[in-house]
Amino acid sequence: MQENLKKQAAIAALPYIKNCRILGIGTGSTVNHFIDQLAPLKAQFEGAVSSSETSTEKLLSLGIPILDLNAVGTLDVYIDGADEINNNLQLVKGGGGALTREKIIAAASRRFICIADQSKLVSRLGSFPLPLEVIPMARSYVAREVIALGGRPVWRENFITDNGNIILDIHGLDILEPMKLENTLNNITGVVTNGLFAKRSADTVLLASEKSTQTLTL
Ligand code: A5P
Repeated sequence: MQENLKKQAAIAALPYIKNCRILGIGTGSTVNHFIDQLAPLKAQFEGAVSSSETSTEKLLSLGIPILDLNAVGTLDVYIDGADEINNNLQLVKGGGGALTREKIIAAASRRFICIADQSKLVSRLGSFPLPLEVIPMARSYVAREVIALGGRPVWRENFITDNGNIILDIHGLDILEPMKLENTLNNITGVVTNGLFAKRSADTVLLASEKSTQTLTL
């Protein structure tokens, strides 16, 4: 059922890639549905900038060329999922651990189209543990800093990011000021990125429910 909704959201994103030369592609089960939709359309664009090794593998298996972000300049569009979405289209991301590359591509794109099923919409961010990508030697230090901020960090065991770092998932946060918390966490030495997409929120959210797919914009 949820898979059908994810696919529904993915299909709703197809009009947004019309006339786009290069696509920014996120990571996760919803994006996987989107990548599946791209196969018959691949002659219409040059290739994709991918946010993870997993998405890269899937794109390549469908014959979609992978391009280096440094070689392509600003992207027209970035398509990705989310773990939580609030009414300001601010997101928590990184459940799949790809948050840093996702944030880079989102920042380098003109439009960020977020695709999700309705379960991701929340009134306040924070129920989903907020991922932090951390340089391995800073793990304990960053954990202590997070505790001082009122969070409960949990080391995502047996997981190394595509960038060779570790993930701390922060539980117990009630995120009242997403932009402020995003900055505070990024300022802890040793943190590479956090999964709050508040400063660079989504431009459009395509939210699938059984009745329809809603288009949320600000
Ligand atoms: C990957 O690191 C995440 O940011 C995903 O975008 C997010 O976890 C959504 O994934 P699903 O589409 O699998 O729910």
